Amino acid sequence: MTDNKNKLFNNLTAQIEKMAAGGADRRNILQSICDLLRESVPGYDWVGFYLVDSEKDRELILGPFAGEPTEHVRIPFGKGICGRAAETEDIFIVDDVSREENYLSCSMKVKSEIVLPIFKNGKLIGELDLDSHRMSAFGESDKKFLKIVGDIAGSLL
Ligand code: SME
Repeated sequence: MTDNKNKLFNNLTAQIEKMAAGGADRRNILQSICDLLRESVPGYDWVGFYLVDSEKDRELILGPFAGEPTEHVRIPFGKGICGRAAETEDIFIVDDVSREENYLSCSMKVKSEIVLPIFKNGKLIGELDLDSHRMSAFGESDKKFLKIVGDIAGSLL
């Protein structure tokens, strides 16, 4: 990872920690996190949270997001990359979405994606999902940074 990217991620982590501690409504904080990430990191073209629907079994519902609106407002566990991440509780990094069979397309522009499950007290409560218009946009440094962001979000939910 370049020093610049390292600096950027450290800086954003500090800003997000501050937002989380600021006492605003939790949906507003999640929205601010999405906006900040999308504006600040080149290649983060869509940033959003999916939350486990407490009223329906094994279904995700779209939460705050930044970027183009998506038709995938509800995603059953197992469907697409988000649904698979929910089912397996694993982080998914897809370098080239055109090679995925179980994939839900939001926009023809999207080339790569990362999905990170979010837990509270060991229980899956949501996901952080990012799309990029670049191929292979998400690597180890992004994963490490976004895991921290997911942990902060989890502490708010
Ligand atoms: N591509 C995702 C759907 C959500 S959008 O990226 C916003 C998937 O395959 O689950």
